[in-house]
Parts: sequence; C-alpha cells; structure tokens
Amino acid sequence: MISDALKVQLTGHCGHYPSRRVGLIFVMQKLQEHYGGWLPEEAIREAAEISGVPETEVEGVATFYNWFFREPAGRHIIVVCDSISCYLCGCDRIAANLERKLGIKLGETTPDGMFTLLPVVCLGNCDKAPSIMVDDELYGPVTADMIDEIIEKTASETHGTRRAHDERNRPV
Ligand code: FES
Repeated sequence: MISDALKVQLTGHCGHYPSRRVGLIFVMQKLQEHYGGWLPEEAIREAAEISGVPETEVEGVATFYNWFFREPAGRHIIVVCDSISCYLCGCDRIAANLERKLGIKLGETTPDGMFTLLPVVCLGNCDKAPSIMVDDELYGPVTADMIDEIIEKTASETHGTRRAHDERNRPV
C-alpha cells in the first residue's frame, strides 16, 4: 500500500494534464520504485485508481513495456539488444557470455537477486553494435572480453542489501 503523501503527489501529477490518463506511465514508474522494482497486483489497482485508466489497460501497459516488471526483478537489469544491427554484429555471443557469467538464461534472475538478464529490441545505439544496457548505462560495441569487467563494475557499485537500496530510493 502506498502512503497518503505519495497518493496525493501522484494524483496531483495526473491533475496537470487535460486527461488524467496521460500521467499513467509516470504513476507506474513511481509505483514500481515504491514496490522495490516491480508492480504487484496492488500497484496495478492503485495506478488504475489514480490515473482513471481501467485496470485491464494498466495491466496491458505493464506487460507491453520492457521496463515494467510484474514479478520481482534483480537489483540490476541487464538488457541485450537482439535487433538487426546487433544480431549481425554477434549479440548471440554476447548473450551467451552473459548467461555463462551470471549462470542464468535470458529472462531469468540470479538466485541472489542481483541481476536480471533480458533481451530487448533496438536500444538506439546501432552504430555501436552489439549493444547492451545495464540499468541506465549503455555499452557498445561490447566484446566478450568486456563482460567480466561490466559485471564486476556493476556488482561493486551495489552498496548494502537490496532492501536497504529500496528503502533509500523509495519515494515519499
Ligand atoms: S539494433 Fe541493437 S542498438 Fe539498434
């Protein structure tokens, strides 16, 4: 459940638009932050109530976009572009290296909850294919040799537990 303060903040945000539904994506982003990186059923209901968009449509938005999660995701999200430029430049090899390094398959999360690995369509970085994105950071062209370094750098930037991270990043 969200706090009254967050509900007021999000309702106010939607009120800035001629139609409240325009604020839906922002509301969902904030709710995902609040719930520690994913959108449980409760968040879908709250997003619908705040934005005035029916729950079924909110669910559709949540499952359409890569950056919304309907189940708990890892502390760090790694996406591997598998669109044409990256495909031609060996994204399969990069994905295989990431899978080997992390011990999981595309679409899975490491048992320690640290990393989720996902395929994604074009990251808009085609001239630097193959490209991957780790959280908000874009890498390309990525070579197999860079994988260890990227994973280790990302892991070393993780301070404290996931719960501590979520608490620090939780909106009001
Ligand atoms: S095809 Fe991979 S970034 Fe565009």
